Amino acid sequence: MPPVGTRGVRTISQTKAVADLAPADPNSAVPLHVAIIMDGNGRWAEQRSLPRVAGHRAGVQAVRRTIEAAIAHGVSWLTLYAFSSENWRRPAQEVTDLTGLLRRFIKSEIAEMNRNGVRMHVIGDRSRFDRDIQTELARAEETTRANTKLNLVIALSYGARSEIVAAAQQAIALVQAGKLDPAELTECRFAALLETAHMPDPDLILRTSGEQRLSNFLLWQSAYAEFVFTDILWPDFGEAQFAEALAEFARRERRFGARPA
Ligand code: FPP
Repeated sequence: MPPVGTRGVRTISQTKAVADLAPADPNSAVPLHVAIIMDGNGRWAEQRSLPRVAGHRAGVQAVRRTIEAAIAHGVSWLTLYAFSSENWRRPAQEVTDLTGLLRRFIKSEIAEMNRNGVRMHVIGDRSRFDRDIQTELARAEETTRANTKLNLVIALSYGARSEIVAAAQQAIALVQAGKLDPAELTECRFAALLETAHMPDPDLILRTSGEQRLSNFLLWQSAYAEFVFTDILWPDFGEAQFAEALAEFARRERRFGARPA
């Protein structure tokens, strides 16, 4: 069974307690984990009469700026929704462009990530990518595994519903093997079967481009996240917008279903 995430407060007997839902410091002004739905690359390109790939290229620059901003602001976990399981349905040329950018990004950024203390993780169905990309992803995770400054999670061919279904299948298999009593399948044990078992839940979910939806991103994990939606298109995103989102987060009162004391 995978480890039960990073929340020391969670134990199987506590799963219904408020403490179970809250991060170690629920009042921290800086979110432990920021997750971003990067949206608006296509519109950014369209506004400039450029091909969509130009928007995605500019989006990669925004990724770099955002990683730097997360480090500068002391955020420990940054998850980027880079490619959804539904994105495979885009025209073949756009899929090739996006996977090509991903290939180049991983290859070119490993050294920089190492210099900056960034540890890279991947969630999602990486088996759908070309073999060489899978190899680069594994290499990046291995090379950066000792880094502790920022955990960078890249969601690739990720879909939350299929993640939840896969966890349910694992739970059923454990029951069938006599290793799990169904009565003991708590929220905590179920969360430990998700791909994100080793990660804290996101405190702040940010989406750019004015759209206000989750698009199959971290559905289970976002139960108590704060949401910030900004009209800025992803290629224009940078430190100033990251700082603004963090300031908005700091103004929110998080209660995790409880009443204020
Ligand atoms: C949404 O814009 C963005 C994506 C589908 C992919 C995000 C990818 C990147 C930022 C570049 C690659 C990332 C890495 C980590 C190398 P959209 O195309 O849906 O924009 P639109 O809604 O305006 O059409």
